[in-house]
Amino acid sequence: MEPHPFGTAPADSLPLESLSVEPLLTSEFDADPGSVYGRLRRTYGPVAPVGLLGVPVWLVLDYREVLEVLRNESQWRRDIRYWRARAEGRLPHGWPLLAGYEVRQTMFMDDEEHRAARQTYHTALGPFQDSRTPQGWELRSAVVAYADELVAMLAAESGAVGFADLAAQYTRPLLLMVTTRLFGCPVELGDELVMDLWRMLDGGPDAGPATGRALAAMTRLAAHRRALPGDDLTSYMLLADPTLSDEQLGRELFMNAVYLTDITGNMVCNTLLEVLRGNATVRRSLSAGLIGETVNRAALANTPVANMCFRFAARDVRLGNFWIRAGDVVSPSSAAAHQDLMAIGSHIVDSTVSTRAHLGWGAGPHQCPTAARELAGTIVTTAVGRIFEHFTKVELTLPPDQLPWRSGPVVRGLRLLPVRYELSGRSPAGRQSVGGNGSGVARSDAVRASERHARGLLGALRQLMFGGRKGD
Ligand code: HEM
Repeated sequence: MEPHPFGTAPADSLPLESLSVEPLLTSEFDADPGSVYGRLRRTYGPVAPVGLLGVPVWLVLDYREVLEVLRNESQWRRDIRYWRARAEGRLPHGWPLLAGYEVRQTMFMDDEEHRAARQTYHTALGPFQDSRTPQGWELRSAVVAYADELVAMLAAESGAVGFADLAAQYTRPLLLMVTTRLFGCPVELGDELVMDLWRMLDGGPDAGPATGRALAAMTRLAAHRRALPGDDLTSYMLLADPTLSDEQLGRELFMNAVYLTDITGNMVCNTLLEVLRGNATVRRSLSAGLIGETVNRAALANTPVANMCFRFAARDVRLGNFWIRAGDVVSPSSAAAHQDLMAIGSHIVDSTVSTRAHLGWGAGPHQCPTAARELAGTIVTTAVGRIFEHFTKVELTLPPDQLPWRSGPVVRGLRLLPVRYELSGRSPAGRQSVGGNGSGVARSDAVRASERHARGLLGALRQLMFGGRKGD
């Protein structure tokens, strides 16, 4: 192990704010982030100074350096109060990314406060993670029921052979339905929440007010479940930590809603895409029934959290070819680290563990909590699995390199996943309409409750998906 290169930055090393930086979020980055990471690496080495909407940031590109930043919490802090440029009032007024970083929740805590918050998650998410508990079993049944209802809705709208956007018409509504169920939103609140999260995720002109409304809705949900506890994550968070105020719980739920809807949804779409574009190893693992492995391989090829949240240097430290000064901001890029990992491969990981070496879940003390990963993994594998269960044929209607991507400072996800499908003759979706079940199989109360909940949400989602069209 090399000694840690702490010290005081030499006087002749240039501070971040004095370097000329190239903006990261360009149309080239939107179309092909890999080529941008490659060029930055060739120019600067494992760490590069870049501009993020006008603010200079160190982008960490290489696998080894990214792991160092993610794992070493005494050097790389999450609390935004460590950020020197912010403390000195040097950030541009109204800088768009600051609002999110100012929402103080688990991701932006350090040390004991952070460990206690993770313990709350561990306790509250535990029952949903395990398929042998009633909560875990019911959630899994609900995901299957929602997926089947959405496919039935597609079949009702477009026929047994037709065209669909699997991002807008399947993945996003599915994740929003799962979120409202997991959080224990009463249907009336759920409809409102679904609409606002949709507006927030699409970043339209009213995304700001919609975000405020979604935060307020989460806070109201926290108050509602405090008064009327149920079998849901919100109530279990309160049981795990009764000192949580409604506002703090609202902030945690808000952050989880982003993970559950946007990030998990991107993982579903990215996995579907890797299968549909013919990624040979992804297909092989799918046809061998190794769907977890399929997801790992898709995460390596196209990770949804492309650039992880900021860390702030606690002390001056050398990283890559630069001196990073105390209070500087760094963004560890898992997407760039994966590119590096695939290039160096066996020097870091041997072939038997290589697909699990992906940083899709993060690493170190802030990595995605185990229970959340299990839950997300189940949702992703079920969502992907149901598609190939229902359809005999699914093919992209655009060449893979023409698919439109949403490439923000953190997330990379598909805007659309347009396909042509053929429903399997065996699929109950072809015979089933929303609100009915043609299978004739006796269903448990839990599954019937899932279906009632799905129908309430489907009304709202139908409005969102088709509401603009006349005659629907
Ligand atoms: C496929 C879906 C998901 C992916 C790819 C994912 C990925 C990640 C990543 C990369 C981080 C670390 C971020 C960083 O260090 O900057 C993280 C943290 C976190 N995730 Fe997930 N996540 C997913 C689903 C979920 C779900 C479903 C939940 C909750 C229900 C969740 C809850 C959390 C929490 C609470 C943290 C913060 C942990 C901390 O700061 O200690 N995630 N996730």
